[in-house]
Amino acid sequence: ATSVPADDRVPDMEKRQLLNLLLVGALSLPTAGMLIPYASFFAPPGSGSSTGGTVAKDALGNDVIADEWLKTHGPGDRTLTQGLKGDPTYLVVEKDRTLATYGINAVCTHLGCVVPWNQAEKKFICPCHGSQYNDQGRVVRGPAPLSLALAHCDIDDGKVVFVPWVETDFRTGEDPWWA
Ligand code: FES
Repeated sequence: ATSVPADDRVPDMEKRQLLNLLLVGALSLPTAGMLIPYASFFAPPGSGSSTGGTVAKDALGNDVIADEWLKTHGPGDRTLTQGLKGDPTYLVVEKDRTLATYGINAVCTHLGCVVPWNQAEKKFICPCHGSQYNDQGRVVRGPAPLSLALAHCDIDDGKVVFVPWVETDFRTGEDPWWA
């Protein structure tokens, strides 16, 4: 086989038509939807790169440094930080004093109240209409229809970074409703 550069195999006219097709395709909605999984293929969540990730911010708006955080937040702690798109997101400290690899979006799936963590009950309990979620944010009592959204929680250069969670929800075995 001779190695002809790909460009030389396509006459100019065809190339132009191809470009037009691509352009039309990019403008149509069904194609736009298909681009999302395509893009996420190139930016695997949890890769630790800055692609699509957001550094968690504490209550004062400072970047969250993992080591510092673990000095002041003990096992079982769930404290709000600012996560993806500015959403209030819980950082979770595991029993072994490491950060969980997931953060929990605090926005109630019922009507959007921010759901506080109840340390005594070991649940997130929504003050608005009483929905409850277990310690991983899985819904255990309505009216909330869905579990709290997840985000990957990585450590990049010492900082806590949230990355969109697009894989199966490990709590339910279902596709993530938020992705
Ligand atoms: Fe949380 Fe209604 S907004 S229960």
